[in-house]
Amino acid sequence: MTLPEPKRILAIDTSCDETSAAVICGTKIWSNVIASQAQLHKQYGGVFPTVAKQAHKENILPTVQAALQRAGVTADQLGGVAVTQGPGLAPALEVGISFAKEFAEKWKKPLYPVNHIEGHLLSVLAQPKKRAKKTYDELSPTVTTQWPIMSVIVSGGHTEFVLATAPGNYQKIGWTLDDAAGEALDKFGRMVGLGYPAGALVEDMALQGNADAYKFPLPMTDRHDLMMSFSGLKTAARRLVTDLETAAPLTAQQVNNLCASFQKAVFRMITYKLKSALAQHPVKELWIGGGVAANITLRAELRQLAKAYNIPLRVPYTNKLCGDNAAMIGLVASQRVLENSQTFERQPRLSLTTPNAI
Ligand code: KG4
Ligand code: ZN
Repeated sequence: MTLPEPKRILAIDTSCDETSAAVICGTKIWSNVIASQAQLHKQYGGVFPTVAKQAHKENILPTVQAALQRAGVTADQLGGVAVTQGPGLAPALEVGISFAKEFAEKWKKPLYPVNHIEGHLLSVLAQPKKRAKKTYDELSPTVTTQWPIMSVIVSGGHTEFVLATAPGNYQKIGWTLDDAAGEALDKFGRMVGLGYPAGALVEDMALQGNADAYKFPLPMTDRHDLMMSFSGLKTAARRLVTDLETAAPLTAQQVNNLCASFQKAVFRMITYKLKSALAQHPVKELWIGGGVAANITLRAELRQLAKAYNIPLRVPYTNKLCGDNAAMIGLVASQRVLENSQTFERQPRLSLTTPNAI
């Protein structure tokens, strides 16, 4: 079967605090450049929207230029431009969208609006450019994927279970009612003096700590649905840290133990509800995406769960694809094979189950 040559797509993501641009061809990543603003936001202990907007404005052109250069592609060779439409911070989204609109107009390329969460979801399908030859499987991951799949999206802004029967066919079946898992880890990290963002640091400290040193509650057990909550854990942690600090400043071992115990509690919330989700919705694969998906302990727990259901766990092939990045956005556009340019506006609260019709 002869397939059309997939388009080389320039993708842009400015949904939060990373300015990212990538060139994607089918599921292959030709380049994926990320300019992180984490250092800028450290002093605020979280992302400050106007600071993010300004940094995106400064970074967007050099980031796009670097993505094109690393891919060895010129603007006129592109088959389209993809950009995150939402969800995300409104002022941050605006920068990427206006840039993409102008770029697409200047070079007469179709423009593809992409849902950021769908990007995290499909990120497991991305492949490095160099791997293997061009085959049908690579161009059409729907062939290699055993549908339906359950995707666990765990990031700084989202924690949800999505049931997918095919690319583009999604049902959000469970989510957090308050903080996202990454947000809870970041807030906890701040309490114990780890700075921002703290998720990866909490993971490092946890590896040297005792996860049973402190007990945290398991919320939402009185509900039989798939909803999660992390704000109670945060409150319990605040109380515990205050009590410990009243006695004496925290020792390094206490911080390690707190990290291990808190991280365990956050992941226990996810696995507890995921077990029910998998029992209620038989799937053939388990996927994971989002910044927290880089966590080795979480992956090990999900792998164990997947094993119990006799299904594979698929994770993005590099940690760079877990956090916010433009390659995952280009991949969604590539898969959708949109033919015509559309006009659209930013949608900070874009839902995964709302079609992209504007
Ligand atoms: O996907 P992402 O880059 O941004 C959002 O879309 O939110 O996720 C960022 C989140 C932050 O909360 C960060 O602390 C967390 O992912 N994170 C981690 C790890 N690396 C990043 N959490 C746990 N373990 C990690 N290794
Ligand atoms: Zn994200």
